[in-house]
Amino acid sequence: MGSHNESLRVLIVGAGFGGLTAAIECRKRNFNVTVFESNASRRQLGDIISFGSNSGRIFRTWPGVEDKLDPICHHGDGIDFRTYDDEFLCRQMWDKDAIWGKRFGGHRGEIHEVVWNHAIEQGVEIKLASKVEEYFETESEAGVVVNGERVIGDVVLAGDGVRSLARTIVLGFEDKPKSSGYAVYRSWMPTEDLKKDPLTAWLADPTKDLHFGWLGPDVHFLVATLQKGKALSWVLTHKDDADVEESWSAPGYVEEAVKAIANWAPICHAIIRATPEDRLVDWKLVFRDPLPTWISPKRRIALIGDAAHPFLPTSIQGASQSMEDGVTAAVCLELAGSKANVPEALRVFEKIRYSRVLAAQQTGVTNRDAWHKADFDYVRKNPESVKLPQQEWVFNFDARQHAYDVYEQTSEELKKDPDWKPNPIL
Ligand SMILES: Cc1cc2nc3c(=O)[nH]c(=O)nc-3n(C[C@H](O)[C@H](O)[C@H](O)COP(=O)(O)OP(=O)(O)OC[C@H]3O[C@@H](n4cnc5c(N)ncnc54)[C@H](O)[C@@H]3O)c2cc1C
Ligand SMILES: *[C@@H]1O[C@H](CO)[C@@H](O)[C@H](O)[C@H]1NC(C)=O
Ligand SMILES: *[C@@H]1O[C@H](CO)[C@@H](O)[C@H](O)[C@H]1NC(C)=O
Repeated sequence: MGSHNESLRVLIVGAGFGGLTAAIECRKRNFNVTVFESNASRRQLGDIISFGSNSGRIFRTWPGVEDKLDPICHHGDGIDFRTYDDEFLCRQMWDKDAIWGKRFGGHRGEIHEVVWNHAIEQGVEIKLASKVEEYFETESEAGVVVNGERVIGDVVLAGDGVRSLARTIVLGFEDKPKSSGYAVYRSWMPTEDLKKDPLTAWLADPTKDLHFGWLGPDVHFLVATLQKGKALSWVLTHKDDADVEESWSAPGYVEEAVKAIANWAPICHAIIRATPEDRLVDWKLVFRDPLPTWISPKRRIALIGDAAHPFLPTSIQGASQSMEDGVTAAVCLELAGSKANVPEALRVFEKIRYSRVLAAQQTGVTNRDAWHKADFDYVRKNPESVKLPQQEWVFNFDARQHAYDVYEQTSEELKKDPDWKPNPIL
């Protein structure tokens, strides 16, 4: 691709899925890419993470990645919904995703390792133990301060996650997370203890992956098995007004999780009780108001992924949208065509992405409320009403092609309307 781009120096902060996707796509375009990751090792934390067909198609364009993901991912073809007292409601098939592409779901650490290795193979330089302390920009360059050293590039893509420091320079002030009123107990565990109890032994099925959603008033409990019955992951979303804590590693307690579903079916209690406590996390779900902009005043620093727009897990789109950001940013930098045009590239990036992301974020609230606020008398009579909406605009979408298709037009629109700002209201 454009040789005039060869020396574009791209600094990427954070080696999450957003940062790594941006890095891989920038390398493919022969940019000079460095990723700074604060952690001293490749991070293993987390449990189940889902990629819809919109990001699944990005994985599939990276040579070898799909083959490495297949053995570790969940391969169920649908989800069984049941009531909290274990009455079967309906089975939702993922048949539409099969037409729109391919979904991938599995352990965050394991999937992350595959993507990380692909980035390294592509020649991405990842600097570990490199916590970015400061961002700066001028009319002609942008950079970061890492371990006391000033590193200068043409553009900075800040994928530094939900606790992003880059937000401060972009916004000019520090915004605070808000409680969403919910928290999630979550676990990833081996199925050994489940096999000991006849109530749960059948979950460790080596022949097929299972996926269940037990739904009750203001609580939902999702369970998935994978890797030939060896692993099970569950998430229990419940009301929580206690405190706002954005940590992934707050410990969870088995008896507290059971208490959150006290009057539920024995099978649900049995799954939770079989969970080793050191594998249980209680993650407070916070959100932030949509930012007025994702790009810095001189337009050389852009926020991508959770740094720009944290997602509630019920959208099942957080990781996917961060990957779409990474791909789109790389295409925009390619099409802008020169170092001098970086500000144009970032403006176009923001305009292409903003309203789509805002709408996708909103599905986190609507999906959650459709389950949590449901009238269970109504649900029992209309069991199909609990199915997740499978919006085609979310899943049947090719972020890379879209960026190529609309770049020129979007750039023209921005030239005619230099004061354009994103509209943070849906
Ligand atoms: C530890 C962890 C566990 C997670 N577990 C799950 C899970 O189980 N299920 C799920 O659905 N989602 C999980 N997520 C969230 C999910 O990964 C993101 O919502 C989504 O993938 C978007 O990714 P991102 O790249 O924007 O941000 P993130 O995945 O949050 O990545 C941000 C990266 O930036 C690094 N970073 C932060 N600040 C700096 C700095 N100043 N300098 C350098 N590097 C910095 C962080 O160490 C991190 O690696 C987890 C995130 C983290 C960080
Ligand atoms: C990337 O840019 C840096 C800083 O200019 C330079 O030291 C490095 O050699 C470049 N890497 C490649 C692969 O060109
Ligand atoms: C790095 O990751 C490890 C394991 O995931 C975690 O325990 C540790 O706290 C992280 N360190 C930093 C500096 O984020």
